[in-house]
Amino acid sequence: MVNFFIVIDGIDGSGTTTHSRLLTGFLENEGFKVYLTQEPSNSEIGILLRKFLKNKDIPPITDALLFAADRNIHYNNDIKKKLDEGYIVISDRYIESSIVYQSTQSDDISIEWVKNINKFIGWPDVTIILDIDPKISLARKTNEDLEKFENTSFLSKVRNLYLARAKQESYHVVSSDDIIEFVQQKIQRLIVDPLKSRGFLFKN
Ligand code: TYD
Repeated sequence: MVNFFIVIDGIDGSGTTTHSRLLTGFLENEGFKVYLTQEPSNSEIGILLRKFLKNKDIPPITDALLFAADRNIHYNNDIKKKLDEGYIVISDRYIESSIVYQSTQSDDISIEWVKNINKFIGWPDVTIILDIDPKISLARKTNEDLEKFENTSFLSKVRNLYLARAKQESYHVVSSDDIIEFVQQKIQRLIVDPLKSRGFLFKN
């Protein structure tokens, strides 16, 4: 059974949700079974994490542990099952969000430690990082909507770390400061070859 696990990650407002949806549509159109999911997940832990995104008093280590716990249940009870059923799984955010956001939140949090508490999950076949200047990505949001990570100085650090990590891990980086269709086409081009080499047959 062929399966494939794609992650789209990047700073707040970089378009991970839009592009994960568009990519799902593209692949479904090609006749593939696609499962679109996101993190924080829909588990009880994910729901708690969404509440915590509005709360500045949560210690960063609590965040890191909960994101890791949410990912563990998400991978085992959801993603892995769909992969085993032959789905292409697309996750809007995954471990790279934890590595980058939680290590930026506190000097006590090293990338190694975040990797360690996440070490039991399955790794994606392809990770695509969407890159944009936080001044542009935050411009669309109103002040009342802003969650605790959504400020330009924090997100600038997060952005730089995403770019450094992408270099180290050879992740694809796509600038999302462009027309949506154009960005989406670039993303599609990046996943067609790896899917073909896994045995997925495209109509077009
Ligand atoms: P986001 O993906 O923007 O969701 P929504 O569009 O529904 O608000 O928000 C998720 C936030 O959680 C984002 O600021 C990044 C943060 N986050 C982490 O800090 N660590 C993680 O491991 C994950 C998955 C997300």
